[in-house]
Amino acid sequence: MSRVQNKKLRKKITTAAEAAKLIKPGHNVGMSGFTGAGYPKEIPGALAAEIKAAHERGEEFQIGLLTGASTAPELDGVLADVDGISFRTPYQSDPIMRRKINEGISEYADIHLSHLAPMIWAGSMGKLNTAVVEVTAVKEDGLLVPSSSVGNNKTFLDQADQIILEVNTWQSAELEGMHDIYYGTRLPPERQPVMLTHTGDRIGQRNYKIDLDKVVAVIETDAPDRNTPFKPADEDSKKMAGYFLEFLTHEVKQKRLPKDLLPLQSGVGNVANAVLAGLAEGPFEYLTSYTEVIQDGMVDLIDSGKMVVASATAFSLSPEYAHRMNEEARHYRDKIVLRPQEISNHPEMIRRLGVIACNGMIEADIYGNVNSTHIMGSKMQNGIGGSADFTRNSFISAFVTPSIAKGGAISCIVPMVSHHDHTEHDVQVLITEQGLADLRGKSPKQRAKLIIANCAHPTYRPMLEEYFEHAQKVANGLQTPHDLRLSLSWHQRFLETGTMQPA
Ligand code: COA
Repeated sequence: MSRVQNKKLRKKITTAAEAAKLIKPGHNVGMSGFTGAGYPKEIPGALAAEIKAAHERGEEFQIGLLTGASTAPELDGVLADVDGISFRTPYQSDPIMRRKINEGISEYADIHLSHLAPMIWAGSMGKLNTAVVEVTAVKEDGLLVPSSSVGNNKTFLDQADQIILEVNTWQSAELEGMHDIYYGTRLPPERQPVMLTHTGDRIGQRNYKIDLDKVVAVIETDAPDRNTPFKPADEDSKKMAGYFLEFLTHEVKQKRLPKDLLPLQSGVGNVANAVLAGLAEGPFEYLTSYTEVIQDGMVDLIDSGKMVVASATAFSLSPEYAHRMNEEARHYRDKIVLRPQEISNHPEMIRRLGVIACNGMIEADIYGNVNSTHIMGSKMQNGIGGSADFTRNSFISAFVTPSIAKGGAISCIVPMVSHHDHTEHDVQVLITEQGLADLRGKSPKQRAKLIIANCAHPTYRPMLEEYFEHAQKVANGLQTPHDLRLSLSWHQRFLETGTMQPA
């Protein structure tokens, strides 16, 4: 039976090729999708074919592309590959998309994930012409059942002039009831407190409500989410996870954290999963999570009974766990809440709940500034994502990275970061496989000593000590001493010689 139950929308069912023709050159298009979950699977490919054909005829055809966060090769990849994206926001991680940004073909605005929706409501992002949103089903009354990510979908559906829906039967129909779509957000001066006081609170509705007259096409598909398998945690990730868990245990002993901790936020990836695996074996019970994505490790914590509830905006699961979620969505419905990203990443909630945040980074400097986004100052990796939403507002904010990259040619602890995403004022804990530096309440010079001693790789530690000593002799002040001629010389040396180590 078709999942498109509404009679009016059933008449709009068409092919992806026909639907893609409704997207015109210059359109700003809001597409669903967050960390490889819940993105449209068919329209982007069909649109890429339209764009390619237009380019072959010598016509200009590019779109502005807005999403929740990163998507998949079938969305970012195919559209970037045909030079179809003139403007991209807010977070991406596709290799082709990244290349086009760094080649200057696509303009990229790296916007905090919690900021984009309010910016669209305010009109700061220009007109939104089209929304292309994956849903699990269209109910008889026209309400839409969200799929495996919520992201900015509510905003795209509300704000776009026209809507194209992809109804995906690969997504479990039993996801219905897992989502909490909050419609109470307003712009200042009408903004009111968001009355969410516990991670599992439900303050909105289960479905998206839309103006059915705006729907111009409906596509049916059964294509799976990207669902990248997780690599087993390597030794370094396990070490970093161990330091973090030791730190949390110490904070509980000192009575600075409750026994069941505070809601956890974790970035995606190896270290994050190792932390979650560590928690599964650790002493903490009744854990909660207020985060962006639900990963395999979190599902394990829920299964073991150690985590009672997890709030996020999307899944980011391996194929095996996605299969399990699809089979058993009903079972997880009261333990997982998926919300719009302006709520999952809302500074008000993160501050109120007292989240413990832990995210990956590219590099940190000796004073505790963090670069999450740029390679050697100029080249975009992925984007800031939600890391700053969480870092500035969390009760405890930590960053993790291996101390070296590219086989030791790069030190991830440097005299000065080549791009600032998180400032010394926001970063409280730094962790590498060498150890952990607790920076809370420390001055910049006290931080530098800790970071160099605890986090730097032995190869680079003496060089950092030397820089720090030297900076204190030549700087124009001793609050945050730098030699501005040398502070970025490590990066320059890498660009010129392929290594930060001197000849
Ligand atoms: N200088 C230059 N390159 C570096 C580097 C450094 N200091 N540190 C790492 N790299 C390179 C790696 O070698 C790797 O290169 P490759 O792709 O050519 O192999 C690449 O950067 C990614 O490094 P990796 O160690 O695989 O990163 P990761 O998967 O742990 O991700 C971030 C690290 C920072 C890119 C990632 O956490 C991110 O995008 N963060 C921002 C968004 C965010 O925090 N979201 C969390 C949810 S709120």
